[in-house]
Amino acid sequence: GDNVLYLAHKHGIDLEGACEASLACSTCQVYVSDAHFDKLPEPVEREDDMLDMAPMLQENSRLGCQII
Ligand code: FES
Repeated sequence: GDNVLYLAHKHGIDLEGACEASLACSTCQVYVSDAHFDKLPEPVEREDDMLDMAPMLQENSRLGCQII
């Protein structure tokens, strides 16, 4: 579908997505700008779990494949 991971690939942006959006990795991590971060729905628990293990985690980190 048209999640951020898909859109990044469509536009030639080099974002990994090792598990192909099945919430089993954190390689699709993105940093979301302040203006957009608060507009996103809260992450589901499994996304939070994956983010907890993500390298270089920031306050504004989300998994790209979960942003629609
Ligand atoms: Fe693995 Fe997004 S691609 S969680």
